[in-house]
Amino acid sequence: MKVTVVGAGNVGATCADVLATREIANEIILLDIKDGFAEGKALDIWQTAPINLYDSRTIGCTNDYARTSNSDVVVITSGLPRKPGMSRDDLIATNAGIVKSVTENVVKYSPNAIVIVVSNPLDVMTYCAYLNANLPSSKVFGMAGVLDTARYRAFLAEELNVSPKDIQAVLMGGHGDTMVPLPRYTTVGGIPVSELIEENKLNEIIERTKFGGGEIVKLLGTSAWYAPGAAAAQMVEAVIRDQKRIFPVCAWLNGEYGLSDIYLGVPVVLGKNGIEKIIELQLNEEESKLLIDSAEAVKGVMDVLDKMNANQ
Ligand code: NAI
Ligand code: 2OP
Repeated sequence: MKVTVVGAGNVGATCADVLATREIANEIILLDIKDGFAEGKALDIWQTAPINLYDSRTIGCTNDYARTSNSDVVVITSGLPRKPGMSRDDLIATNAGIVKSVTENVVKYSPNAIVIVVSNPLDVMTYCAYLNANLPSSKVFGMAGVLDTARYRAFLAEELNVSPKDIQAVLMGGHGDTMVPLPRYTTVGGIPVSELIEENKLNEIIERTKFGGGEIVKLLGTSAWYAPGAAAAQMVEAVIRDQKRIFPVCAWLNGEYGLSDIYLGVPVVLGKNGIEKIIELQLNEEESKLLIDSAEAVKGVMDVLDKMNANQ
């Protein structure tokens, strides 16, 4: 199986490293626009093979999309982080330009690929890729919920002093502070989390999760990469190995949850065909309201992209 990762920066290189080390794909193409950058990262990753004892080959290239031909999955991580003085609209315009050209190029050489978007602002960049990919929405989706639930599960594991493996959770909505963690759907070894933790402590963890990305930016001066890279690789694995995993994924909605024409985080079944099913939970009134608020926030950002496209 062949996987291309576009963007050899922090998240892209980490994703490629996980894909190689865990032998999720046997050929991994790492592509970047910066001359020699992806080649250097790929060479370094490949040189871990004799140490970590795996066979997967990672190859780097500078903007040479022919090398990505016939990829089964493409992960798009190319894009700029928001810089001081840059408005949200400037960031959308810059990253949409990057995601658009990258999507057109990857689809030209891999018309049957499944495309997983990581670039921010995530929900609208996934929409941008969809607009330019000419692929069914089941094959174009975004990574955010796997990362956001991982943060939530890690915080809970720490608080309860239990293995993070035993914590299961669903989180919905956009990738931002309007995300909707769902305590009613959070279990610890099958036990509802509400039986193990005080309500105010759980609410603190939910708030920390919503701002989990910002917490790392404050500490590092740039955004996270280990967990985002691993999260994207886990989604690739579900597709390549046809695992039918249930993950929260940024997916195109067509009436599910009463929402249409929007990319939003919802639980899905991921397998060899991409999104094989969107799972509709029986949300209560409060949860539905939070989801609708989150959808409105995402729609506002999608409108910015639509207006930019209309003015071109
Ligand atoms: P980075 O700056 O380390 O890497 C980005 C790479 O993209 C750079 O190497 C750059 O040269 C490359 N690039 C830019 N334009 C390109 C083009 N046209 N073609 C090919 N490569 C191009 O950034 P990092 O930390 O890896 O983050 C990447 C993106 O992922 C950012 O937009 C970031 O906000 C987002 N992100 C999203 C997360 C999520 O949960 N969805 C989590 C973490 C980051
Ligand atoms: C994160 O959640 C900033 O989207 C990035 O770490």
